[in-house]
Amino acid sequence: MTTDFDAYERDLWTGRATAYEQGFAKLTTRTIAPLLDAARVTAGTRLLDIGTGPGIVAAEAVRRGADASAVDAEPEMAATARRNVPGLDVQVAVLPDLPFPDAAFDAVVGNFVINHVSDPAVTLGELRRVLRPGGRLALTCWRMPGTGALALVREAIDEAEVPWPDDIPEPPFTEHGERAAFEALVTAAGFADAAAEDITWTHPVDPEEWWELGALARVGSNGVVVGRQDAPTVARIKTAYDRLATRYATADGRIALPAHALLACGTR
Ligand SMILES: C[S@@+](CC[C@H](N)C(=O)[O-])C[C@H]1O[C@@H](n2cnc3c(N)ncnc32)[C@H](O)[C@@H]1O
Repeated sequence: MTTDFDAYERDLWTGRATAYEQGFAKLTTRTIAPLLDAARVTAGTRLLDIGTGPGIVAAEAVRRGADASAVDAEPEMAATARRNVPGLDVQVAVLPDLPFPDAAFDAVVGNFVINHVSDPAVTLGELRRVLRPGGRLALTCWRMPGTGALALVREAIDEAEVPWPDDIPEPPFTEHGERAAFEALVTAAGFADAAAEDITWTHPVDPEEWWELGALARVGSNGVVVGRQDAPTVARIKTAYDRLATRYATADGRIALPAHALLACGTR
């Protein structure tokens, strides 16, 4: 069943593949190795990467020798993954529905995707269905509410006194965006040995590039809000952004943005 949140998400990602790949995907790269390790992905693992985006997780899995498949709801993202990972089986599919038979995979991974689905519990049930008994699940999400890299543009919007629009939906995953709650969600879906951990790091980036790709390119809800403003308002948000970004300034003229993710895993 398609919800308002699904409709919002489809619109959110349409046409954003290039900007996402050039910006946020450099941030999400940090969790690829822990994610694949938690799912015990090695040579020959039959792996499904959900919400593959530009295919950065699938690419590393293939490099490990896994037999990887991938899905994404956004056709342009799927095309980007196909281009980046030659030979990868990439299908367009909208979670929670997956076009695979029961027990088709040894491992299922999703890097920053579970926070984009309309029903996390139903989605986990579907991920469990396509795993073989004993198969591994590993998922990352952002710690909520977002801080550092996730919050900088939002803080600038607030400081510029631009009201947050009522029609931007809160992700249904929000209540699970904390370590113990994420672990409990995986346990409740019937996974054994569920465990969740915090992963923190800093992301060095040019502040102008982060503004261009994270705000002006309309990636994510912050980008959507900036994209709706007139030029003087965007300029006001940018002034606030420049001031707030100085908190993260490094000697080389860049900013080191703190990032805080959660990694949860379990066994079917
Ligand atoms: C934040 S990006 C993560 C991309 C990639 N996994 C990474 O590591 O950077 C979220 C991705 O999930 C996809 N997505 C969002 N909702 C989805 C859904 N319900 N079903 C499948 N894919 C979805 C988006 O199109 C987007 O490519």
